[in-house]
Amino acid sequence: MVPNAAIKLEDKEFSLPVLVGTEGEKAIDIRKLRNDSGYICYDQGYGNTGSCESAITYLDGENGVLRHRGYPIEQLALHSDFVETAYLIIYGELPNPTQRKDFGLLLRRNAAIEARMHNVFEGFPKDAQPMALLSSIVATLAAHYPHLARNNFEQDLGTFDLAAAMAISKIRTIGALIYRYQKGLPAVPPVEELPFCNNFLHMMFSEPPNVYVPEPEVVRALNLVFLLHADHEQNCSTSTVRMVASSSTNLFTSLSAGICALSGPLHGGANTAVMQMLQSIHDEHDDGTRFIEAAKSGTKSSRLMGFGHAVYKNFDPRATILGKACSEVLAKLGIDDPLLAIAKKLEETALKDDYFLSRKLYPNVDFYSGIIMRALRVPENMFTVLFAIGRTAGWIANWREVAANTKGKIYRPRQVYTGKVARKYVPIAERI
Ligand code: CMC
Repeated sequence: MVPNAAIKLEDKEFSLPVLVGTEGEKAIDIRKLRNDSGYICYDQGYGNTGSCESAITYLDGENGVLRHRGYPIEQLALHSDFVETAYLIIYGELPNPTQRKDFGLLLRRNAAIEARMHNVFEGFPKDAQPMALLSSIVATLAAHYPHLARNNFEQDLGTFDLAAAMAISKIRTIGALIYRYQKGLPAVPPVEELPFCNNFLHMMFSEPPNVYVPEPEVVRALNLVFLLHADHEQNCSTSTVRMVASSSTNLFTSLSAGICALSGPLHGGANTAVMQMLQSIHDEHDDGTRFIEAAKSGTKSSRLMGFGHAVYKNFDPRATILGKACSEVLAKLGIDDPLLAIAKKLEETALKDDYFLSRKLYPNVDFYSGIIMRALRVPENMFTVLFAIGRTAGWIANWREVAANTKGKIYRPRQVYTGKVARKYVPIAERI
């Protein structure tokens, strides 16, 4: 039992309860502080604020720990696949064989989109940002399946299994359709018999009547990319999903908001920035040495992209797994990508340099994910879409926690107002 925290404000002392998580994380419960004292807490960007209690993912940035429902990410990456991990994240336990089969079947049977949804694509410019298409088209799912999207938690939880399976399976299909549409290629419908990742690759790369049959290494690598992106605690997009859900909004609408939040370069867009950085180093015939020196200037525009993390201050376990997988996948596929050599040299140099070591800057998940996706023939502008397909699992689990919490409140932070104080309205004729 941890004693209450004491806080003294204007000579008055307030006693605040302390919450302790299952991994020993402590938090001061300030919910009543404003009512009792008139004070709120200021925490721009919520960096030191626990916005919710959650039983999905545990992250310890100081020690490079990431666990989903108690299972270390390293074990999941080694033994599981994306669909099984998605089930674990959403439902809290690894599926037994029957649950796994039923879940897989539900995904397979709900892969296709409604025929009239194809018209939606035509309304977008072909060169639009894929994430703009993805968020818009996912939002239309609420219109196409109103019986699963009633904006009533009790009712929506009653149809949750189907809505969740539809979301995972259809977001993957919509992602592939966006790629085809933007390239001016005809849509390739999903095949029910194909496993999740094979079906995605089929919808992306098959050229009817020829069917794209991927190497097993390609399927494994794609599984790993989706799995390693499946959830990551209360990041920007997941918090967005929870915030939108807190107004009793249905799953599809909340997911669409999460996709919007993910699209920014500081979140899901960093993998593209890494590839652009590696390409420009390559084009300038640098082996990375000059770039590292420039990155030490500390200016935002010259940063070593894919390095550093807001939470991980030791290493990002996802980057360790991906870095190793990257070399293996490229070797197995016989791809000699000069950008991989540059990335390795950058990592080696930075990890010996006091500038990066003293600031605890290590490779993050985006450092190697782009090189793997490139090896799978995924173009740069689709990288964040693949991130979104994986992250859908975590967003769904977080939506469910919000929906199932009968004591949950609408998210409504406060602010410290810094604008004008009260003044009198001036009629337009009197304004100079
Ligand atoms: N290259 C060079 N210097 C850096 C870098 C970098 N990538 N990142 C931070 N620094 C320096 C920064 O200039 C500052 O130096 P000083 O103390 O001399 O002022 C110090 O390190 C701390 O920087 P910070 O901005 O306070 O660090 P942060 O923890 O707030 O920022 C970050 C984290 C991820 C925004 C930042 O490290 C960064 O911009 N990295 C490059 C972009 C990137 O790879 N983003 C993907 C993040 S992972 C995505 C996900 O998990 O969803």
